[in-house]
Amino acid sequence: MKASARDRLIIALDVGTRAEAISLALTLAPFAGWMKIGLQLFTAEGPDLVRAIRETGANVFLDLKLYDIPNTVARTVESVAGLDAQMLSLHLSGGGEMVRAAVAAAPEDLLLLGVTVLTSANSETLREVGMLEDVLRQVVRLAEIGADCGIGGIVASAREIAALRKAVGESLKLVTPGIRLRGSEEHDQKRIMTPAEAIAAGADYLVTGRPITAAPDPIIAARKIVEEIETCVFRTDRD
Ligand code: C5P
Repeated sequence: MKASARDRLIIALDVGTRAEAISLALTLAPFAGWMKIGLQLFTAEGPDLVRAIRETGANVFLDLKLYDIPNTVARTVESVAGLDAQMLSLHLSGGGEMVRAAVAAAPEDLLLLGVTVLTSANSETLREVGMLEDVLRQVVRLAEIGADCGIGGIVASAREIAALRKAVGESLKLVTPGIRLRGSEEHDQKRIMTPAEAIAAGADYLVTGRPITAAPDPIIAARKIVEEIETCVFRTDRD
């Protein structure tokens, strides 16, 4: 039996205040078991907000995308350990020594996620910063570093799941942002997939923000996405 749509959906709370974040978390609780706190909200409201979101009943993905020298990253992971977040992200492009330091510092109940190539990036973005590898190759290369260093999960586009499963196996959790309903606005995301496509490809968790949080009615938008995930989970469950 696969995890339910609610267990797999992570809402990106990309808002600027505690009041907006808590209101969204409460409104969207029937649809998503996970709330993601990113740099905007964490910078504005600080660690207390993690506890406040936990009190709504949600699991928390603290999306800090750590990238620094190994010691700084490891000490930051220790600070996060006291916050009762269930997931924390770091950039795999920080390299193996940094990732190993983070893994060594993480408590067992904190799932460390390695970000590969941001879903807002494409091959031109990589070329601009001097990376000549194509996106898929770079995603797989970074994921392999993560797997070798004992990371718990990988963040990538759902488009890369087949290659990732081949490279790192079934045990790592695959978390996929860049989720858009067919025909809806892409915003700054480039490597997008629909909820159904991401589930069919084998994503463990789907991250979505603006399609729900910026919708005229977030409940209607969330319901649509959950229905699409449910239909697809049901179908893949029978296979
Ligand atoms: O609004 P939207 O659905 O584009 O939000 C996606 C969220 O996922 C944002 O909070 C963004 O920071 C995050 N994210 C991403 N790509 C990654 C990792 C995280 O878009 N590779």
